Amino acid sequence: MRTSHRVNATPCPLIREISKLAHTIPDIIHMEIGDFGKEFKEMHKEFIASLLAEATKEGYLNYTENNGLYELRSAIADYYKKQHNVKIEPENVVVTIGAMEGLFLSLLLILDAGDKILLPDPGYPNYTSESILVGAEPIYYSLDSNFHPNISDIATQAKKSKAIILNTPNNPTGAVYPKNVLKEIAEIAKENSLVVISDETYENIIFEKKHHTMLKFDDIRDNLIVVNSFSKSVAITGLRLGFIILPDGLSEITSKIQENIIASPPAMIQKAAVSLLENYKKITRKVTQKLKKNKDALLKKLHKLPKISYAPPKGGFYLFLNVSEYYSSSYKFAMDLIRAKRVAVTPGIGFGKNGEGYVRISYSSSYEEVLEGAKRIVEFLKEGGDKLAQQN
Ligand SMILES: Cc1ncc(COP(=O)(O)O)c(C=O)c1O
Repeated sequence: MRTSHRVNATPCPLIREISKLAHTIPDIIHMEIGDFGKEFKEMHKEFIASLLAEATKEGYLNYTENNGLYELRSAIADYYKKQHNVKIEPENVVVTIGAMEGLFLSLLLILDAGDKILLPDPGYPNYTSESILVGAEPIYYSLDSNFHPNISDIATQAKKSKAIILNTPNNPTGAVYPKNVLKEIAEIAKENSLVVISDETYENIIFEKKHHTMLKFDDIRDNLIVVNSFSKSVAITGLRLGFIILPDGLSEITSKIQENIIASPPAMIQKAAVSLLENYKKITRKVTQKLKKNKDALLKKLHKLPKISYAPPKGGFYLFLNVSEYYSSSYKFAMDLIRAKRVAVTPGIGFGKNGEGYVRISYSSSYEEVLEGAKRIVEFLKEGGDKLAQQN
């Protein structure tokens, strides 16, 4: 079959290639994926199972409103009031199939073919693929040494762009953007009537700093979409439930888009999410504590390597490790590491050309696996990395 130019032009994420290879190797330590290991899934699975069973028994078995159950949209509006002290109405919320569909819906909503959209490099690769899928043209802004967005780069490129995507806490860098950085971006966006899509999927996984939502900047509320998700906050990505927060007056249009893609998110999962939100603080605190323990253990082990460098992660569950003193190709590093030590990580080049020289290490598997993975990475580099790989 002849497939569309848009689909043909959409790159396949490198992480999928690595993950596919990793799954063919026995005794592999998975540190490549943005997903959770067994210990995390065990934490809340009984509770979620009971909520889903209850919702099903209660009769949440039909399509819901396209934009999601009003009850859930109200609960999300309340959550924002309590968590961030920002006022949104249920009408500003659209429930989506994860942040991924939320992003896609946002791009469909605002971009025409050929529009330019400003994306982070390095950044979450799906920003590029989804932009291409809707026919837009991705252009990129760089990051500074703290992995914060390069403001002058954004200021220059804003003039020719229709929208910008921000992501804090960040995948793949673990950075959490300070308020002053976000404020500067909000000012540039306002001056250039740039639509801001703020991906705050990891908002609850914060170790030191505070997460600032872009919803705090009243000046840009008319041109702001916030993307969020239950996936990472409750450590169950398979729920496939997220939401976006939009300016006033768009619910009919989003309803039209939802109708033609998904009709509505699954009814019983939406109903379960209402109860999840009531318990959110307790759940997200437990997930974050466990991730912090993993992160600290990983950093302690890697500390033994003199030639690596990194910005300590402030949120999320990734370490973006600079391995350029050892390897110039992050792809080769990842492949050699898999072959020599059976540890899978994602090459930085998979997150954009500025990601070259880095690898992303995910520390969301079990504590034991993180320790074992870190031990093997240290051995790999101490034993001379590539030389070792050739012997195996
Ligand atoms: C930055 C970022 N945004 C969005 C998503 C999509 O998350 P969801 O599972 O809610 O679709 C991910 C998933 O890894 C992510 O890392």
